[in-house]
Amino acid sequence: MQHILDAITASQRGDATTEDFADLALPEAYRAVTVHRDDVDMFEGLETRDKDPRRSLHVEDVALPELGPGEAYVAVMASAINYNTVWTSIFEPVSTFGFLERYGRLSELTKRHDLPYHVVGSDLAGVVLRTGPGVTRWKPGTEVVAHCLSVELEDSDGHDDTMLDPQQRIWGFETNFGGLATIALVKSNQLMPKPAHLTWEEAASPGLVNSTAYRQLVSRNGGNMKQGDNVLVWGASGGLGGFATQYALNGGAVPVCVVSNEEKAAIARSMGAELVINRSEEDYRFWNDEGTAQDPKEWKRFGARIRELTGGEDIDIVFEHPGRETFGASVYVTRKGGTITTCASTSGYMHEYDNRYLWMNLKRIISSHFANYRESWEANRLVAKGMIHPTLSRTYALADVGQAALDVHRNAHQGKVGVLCLAPEEGLGVRDHELREKHLTAINRFRGV
Ligand SMILES: NC(=O)c1ccc[n+]([C@@H]2O[C@H](COP(=O)([O-])OP(=O)(O)OC[C@H]3O[C@@H](n4cnc5c(N)ncnc54)[C@H](OP(=O)(O)O)[C@@H]3O)[C@@H](O)[C@H]2O)c1
Repeated sequence: MQHILDAITASQRGDATTEDFADLALPEAYRAVTVHRDDVDMFEGLETRDKDPRRSLHVEDVALPELGPGEAYVAVMASAINYNTVWTSIFEPVSTFGFLERYGRLSELTKRHDLPYHVVGSDLAGVVLRTGPGVTRWKPGTEVVAHCLSVELEDSDGHDDTMLDPQQRIWGFETNFGGLATIALVKSNQLMPKPAHLTWEEAASPGLVNSTAYRQLVSRNGGNMKQGDNVLVWGASGGLGGFATQYALNGGAVPVCVVSNEEKAAIARSMGAELVINRSEEDYRFWNDEGTAQDPKEWKRFGARIRELTGGEDIDIVFEHPGRETFGASVYVTRKGGTITTCASTSGYMHEYDNRYLWMNLKRIISSHFANYRESWEANRLVAKGMIHPTLSRTYALADVGQAALDVHRNAHQGKVGVLCLAPEEGLGVRDHELREKHLTAINRFRGV
């Protein structure tokens, strides 16, 4: 891969053309982070918390798949850890090999994805190496990021909102050949321009969570947030929450940020949030110790704390993702006519809430999942303009990806955790130094905390 890295370095100096990239020989194999089909039962009998991604994630050479129509190979300079890689690596709630098998049954071309190993990862920043037949928009040598929406677009259901395509998949989770690798295979319509003021690892880190937060909170497909809305953000310094908080502030809303320690509270405040709740310090116990029943008095105590912070107002939009542990409280604290938007269930997917509070108060629960093509593009545009900033706290080498995933699994991280793939060190890839300088404090806000 050294000749590819050399070409990228030359291109950064202005010494490499599209033709130079198109002429590069492609390797037969590349370095990738995988899980193995043979390992899917390795954690049987263990508690979720004790399932260690360092045991199941492999870093190894795999064969370069064939390039199909409408696809592109990207030389991946950096990627990032998403929670979906944690799920894949602990084989919960299901093994992702089932996704690959199902995808493999769709066509001759998709058969490539059904392998005894799964190359994971749903974010990347890098350089286009080759494009397949029919691709005209993207050229070898172009610096890109990729969003993770993979759709076939053959059914009319998805033609208005691409998330509704019956063949909608998350690349690197429900498809193979993901971004935690030195080369990735993507559909070319996943590609978007790399924000020029960011390093490779910074540019790779917003993708999945930024697009998800944008749809869930801002888009009319999600919360349709407006100026002045009180927005309750769970995990406000985490992957999704770090972006939800920025969107609330950018859009003139009032984020009420929930976090679990003072370090995280300080990050939320440094983003500009004024209303912060430390859930550990205030020790909310929405469920009994057995996890079998909820305590509405605790919902009320939580609601009272929110009113204390907002000057007596309730929540217009809840940005939900913890799921079972918090959902009852989320429904309770939402104002009459307000909205609970949900995209995940980290603490358990069988939610319980008191439906009387929902229907009598005309509240709505809106489901949200990743983002459609347009929403992903709009979310990336905001990063490229310096209006939304990466939340990268730490970057690992590809060889240490297991530790990176463990940090996220154990909630020992802040914001996003990056991974260097081809990039030999951090700090490379910036083209627009002026824009970077303007936003340097915001770009570095999550660093080293
Ligand atoms: N549907 C989609 O498209 C989509 C996209 C992205 C992510 N997701 C899912 O969304 C979830 C969060 O992803 P993420 O990247 O934001 O993860 P993350 O970086 O781990 O952040 C989640 C935050 O939620 C808070 N949290 C965790 N468990 C909680 C609990 N029981 N009660 C209250 N707060 C809790 C934690 O913050 P504090 O400890 O500070 O409170 C944590 O930092 C994951 O399950 C992921 O798979 C779904």
